[in-house]
Amino acid sequence: MRKKKEEERKLPRHIAIIMDGNGRWAKKRALPRSAGHSAGSKNFKDIARYCNKIGIEYLTVYAFSTENWARPKDEVDNIMNILRDYLKDAKNFKEENIQVKFIGNIAALPVDIIALIDDAEKNSADATGLKLNIALNYGGRDEILHAARKLAADCKNGLIDAEAISEQDLEARLYTAGQPDPDIIIRPSGEYRLSNYLIWQSAYSEFWFSHILWPDFKPKYLEEALDEFSKRDRRFGGV
Ligand code: FPP
Repeated sequence: MRKKKEEERKLPRHIAIIMDGNGRWAKKRALPRSAGHSAGSKNFKDIARYCNKIGIEYLTVYAFSTENWARPKDEVDNIMNILRDYLKDAKNFKEENIQVKFIGNIAALPVDIIALIDDAEKNSADATGLKLNIALNYGGRDEILHAARKLAADCKNGLIDAEAISEQDLEARLYTAGQPDPDIIIRPSGEYRLSNYLIWQSAYSEFWFSHILWPDFKPKYLEEALDEFSKRDRRFGGV
């Protein structure tokens, strides 16, 4: 059944997800927000495995933005601890054949997290399945600024001619260098914004919004998005 279905529909190469609604999920159950983030983290693992299973090439998830530092310290600490636990299980990436990469201003994170990230990236570098990008301390504007600074430095060093800077030159300096742009960006929880996510890369992405809160966003909802994606006519500015 699945095989026939897969032959008929066109799958995205790259899916990007804004994992939103953890706090509201917890509130609905009279639980602390931390319980929402734990449930969101569990769902993230299930969705990553599912994407790997159905042959998606790239999945990019928004785990923590450059703006999320403004949350209460307890909540920031809780999310960082969830990440630590996840990274300590890094051997799982290798077993699951998932190649993990962190995108964002990683250098500004706590040193123990940087070390865990290095390990996870190194341990999974040979995996041939899903390429998973986790956006952490990530902001789209921050990413473009970072690329602009690198371009400026390369101009100064004589490596590149300022007059000749191309889109490809800037793209090569983004955190996602070498990767295809997201074909579809999914935002659950009833919010209709990009929130500084992949703002360069999303120029021609399709969007899919859902009212389901992230911890409840099971593979069946992802399937709805994929079915709809398969029907969309993407013209990339052409006719
Ligand atoms: C948005 O929901 C969610 C976050 C800012 C944190 C997302 C983090 C996780 C799902 C854990 C990530 C873990 C790994 C291992 C990648 P919200 O808190 O803004 O929800 P609300 O809008 O309902 O308050």
